[in-house]
Amino acid sequence: MEKIIAVAGSGTMGSGIAFSAAQAGYNVVLYDLNKELLEKAGNSIKSNLQFLLKKNKIDDLKAEQIAAQIKFSNDLNDCKADIIIEAIIEKIDIKKQLFSKLAEINNSETIFASNTSSLSISQIQEGIKNEERVAGLHFFNPANVMKLVEVVKGKNTSQQTIDNLVLFSQTLGKTPVICTDSPGFIVNRVARHFYLEALHIAETGEATPAQIDAQLESAGFKMGPFKLMDMIGMDINLAVSQSLYEAFNKAIRFKPSALQESKVLNGELGRKTGKGFYTYNS
Ligand SMILES: NC(=O)c1ccc[n+]([C@@H]2O[C@H](COP(=O)([O-])OP(=O)(O)OC[C@H]3O[C@@H](n4cnc5c(N)ncnc54)[C@H](O)[C@@H]3O)[C@@H](O)[C@H]2O)c1
Repeated sequence: MEKIIAVAGSGTMGSGIAFSAAQAGYNVVLYDLNKELLEKAGNSIKSNLQFLLKKNKIDDLKAEQIAAQIKFSNDLNDCKADIIIEAIIEKIDIKKQLFSKLAEINNSETIFASNTSSLSISQIQEGIKNEERVAGLHFFNPANVMKLVEVVKGKNTSQQTIDNLVLFSQTLGKTPVICTDSPGFIVNRVARHFYLEALHIAETGEATPAQIDAQLESAGFKMGPFKLMDMIGMDINLAVSQSLYEAFNKAIRFKPSALQESKVLNGELGRKTGKGFYTYNS
C-alpha cells in the first residue's frame, strides 16, 4: 500500500480522516493554513491513539506506526499525493481555489475528493484541470469511527475515479454508498429537518435544547440534535442549511434558523470553541 493520501484542512473532519487513513496503513500528509489548528489536530490524533491503546484495540508498536505515518504541514507544496481529500471551509470558491492550486503541483492522475456536506460536486470540478478526477467523498463525524461514506459523482467525474474511491473507502473499513450529486446528497438532506425542526421548537420556547435532546435520546436516537450540532460545528451546520436553502430556491422547509445564526455570530460554534448549546472543558 504505497499510496500517499493528503488531507487538506485539519479541523473536526480532516483530523479524523487523516487518522483513519493512517490507521489503514497509508502515509498521510495533513495540511492546514493554520498552525494552531494543526497542533490541535495533533493532540486529537494523540488522544484517539490513547483511546485505542486503552481499549486494547492496538498495541504500542501500532500506535507508534500510525503516529509516524502522519506528516503535519502548513505548506501547500507538501500536498502531493495519489488521493487528496479536502476538508476545509464549506465555501465553494475557496474549495475550487484550493483544487486549482493543487492541480498545478500534482500529476493529472491524482484524485481530488471533496468532503463537502452540501455543495455541488459538478460546480466544484468545473474548470479544474482534468476534472474527471474530481469527486465527492463525504465522511461522517467522527470520521475515524463512522462507517458510512457517500461517494459523489459529479457531471464530469469518471467511473474510474468513483471505482478508485469506492476501493479506497473499503480499505479504510468504510461502507461506501454512491450518491447522485444533489444538494446535501442523501443523509444531510434528510437530517436537515432533524436539526431545523428542533431549532424551531427551541426558538418558540416550547422546549429547551436539553429537553429536546433528552426526549429524542430516550426515543432511541444516539444523540439529540443540539448535542449533534455542537459536535458538527455550528458554522458548518448553518452553512449546510444555507446551501440547501439556496439550492432548493429558498424552500421554507430548508430556511436556516435565526437561533443558529446568532450562535455563529457570537462565536459559539460548539465543541470546537468550547461553547455551543452546551459548554465544554477542552
Ligand atoms: N463537521 C462535520 O460534522 C462534517 C461532516 C461531514 C463533512 N463536513 C465537511 O467537511 C469540511 C470541513 O468541516 P469541518 O467541520 O472539519 O470544519 P472545521 O472548521 O473544523 O475545519 C476546517 C479547517 O480547514 C482549514 N482551512 C480553511 N480554509 C483553508 C484553506 N484554504 N486551506 C487549508 N486549510 C483551510 C481551517 O483552518 C480549519 O482547520 C466542510 O466542507 C464540511 O461541510 C463536516
